[in-house]
Amino acid sequence: MAIKTKSAFFCQNCGFESPKWQGKCPSCDQWNTFVEEVIEKNDTKENWKDDTKKNKRENFPVLISEIAASEGKRIITNDLEFNRTLGGGIVRGSIVLIGGEPGIGKSTLLLQIALQLKNRILYVSGEESEQQIKMRAERISDSNAELYISTEISMAHLFNQIKKLQPEILIVDSIQTLMSDFVDATAGSISQIKECAAQLQRYAKESDVPVFIIGHINKEGYIAGPKILEHMVDTVLQFEGDHHYTHRILRTIKNRFGSSNEIGIYKMESDGLKQINNPSELLITQKDEPLSGIAIAATLEGLRPMLIEVQALVSPAVYGNPQRTVTGFDLRRLNMLLAVLEKRGGLQFGNKDVFLNIAGGLKVDDPAIDLAISCALLSSFEDVNVPMNICFAAEIGLSGELRAVNRIEQRISEAEKLGFEKIYISKHNAKSLNAKKYNIEIKEVGKMEEIYNGLFV
Ligand code: TYD
Ligand code: MG
Repeated sequence: MAIKTKSAFFCQNCGFESPKWQGKCPSCDQWNTFVEEVIEKNDTKENWKDDTKKNKRENFPVLISEIAASEGKRIITNDLEFNRTLGGGIVRGSIVLIGGEPGIGKSTLLLQIALQLKNRILYVSGEESEQQIKMRAERISDSNAELYISTEISMAHLFNQIKKLQPEILIVDSIQTLMSDFVDATAGSISQIKECAAQLQRYAKESDVPVFIIGHINKEGYIAGPKILEHMVDTVLQFEGDHHYTHRILRTIKNRFGSSNEIGIYKMESDGLKQINNPSELLITQKDEPLSGIAIAATLEGLRPMLIEVQALVSPAVYGNPQRTVTGFDLRRLNMLLAVLEKRGGLQFGNKDVFLNIAGGLKVDDPAIDLAISCALLSSFEDVNVPMNICFAAEIGLSGELRAVNRIEQRISEAEKLGFEKIYISKHNAKSLNAKKYNIEIKEVGKMEEIYNGLFV
């Protein structure tokens, strides 16, 4: 009998599936990304029989009151940041995807977690040799007597090893290197990723073993095949950071077992990743003398309050068109803030170059940073320092009004904890606030003009 195969076209950028080839992906608008992949092969009957047998096992409905809650079954690691991003430890039977750019430290993070735990762990790496992993492990001081390393890339062999070893945690580095015989496509293709992830998911649910999957991200910053993977897994974590700086952020993007707003902060050192319990200290560089163009914002990263330094430079434009250069912030938002300052404050930025930088290579999209940015711009424009003991937390509206921001109490407490003496907030935030509770002076402001007159004139 002729071998029947079924194939489909997949966008290699976002994972969109289509029955026919298309020039432009309707989902992510990229051109020339469709590749034909075999999604079903009919020749491995034996395997299929096995597989269908597994699927045939019927699941009967159960009364909700009779289901034992599994909250108590979490594995708690020594790494507080990691526990926090997972919503309080590793949930048994859960499947967690960790994405991030190459070289950011995904393998280091999971190897480190594996070394810190005392459970039997299987770390499968198709990316590195056993010797390379050993060398990496030697840099990290912890050791786990029951950590097994495998460099297997075939799913069938991997499951044989799992059967023998019965690990309590499975780590896969990375999903793009695994190959399943059920699919006739190369490793890393969308249909392979989909099939391997589906098998791992089934394994996690059936065996109650937590599975961590590392996934590379493509140039747009998505985990390859994100649409497929993200809804197949329970938790999606993103490991991010700037290669020029040592700190790294582990961010929860989706979590079925906890909040999706959590972040964990680390510092990459020569002997592994170190937890950072007080990120603000790392991010504020201005410590001894005040400089113009610097203002401190009380922002939130996820649910964590963090004080961040904003640096601005406003200087006369020498070459024709004035430049607007930003790192870590949205350029359009900067243009809007400049327009507000021009219109409401009468300051001319039209013939000035403007450079804006969020210290530490962070990217901030919390609107509460608006006020600190405007103050940094004003400070550089007027060449007047913002006093070092004050910080800011308010969004700025189009007419220069200060708007309320969320979780103001948390921001104020963090500023107070770090020794700031004054915080500027919107007067709309102040209404619901009990200012007597705090030792820090709270300045309630309605409009940008009041700040300008108070600080820079
Ligand atoms: P890695 O975990 O290999 O990144 P990924 O798996 O995300 O591709 O991280 C590698 C980088 O981390 C590499 O540039 C070396 C650096 N590193 C340290 O600085 N200290 C360490 O202890 C280790 C193990 C790695
Ligand atoms: Mg790696």
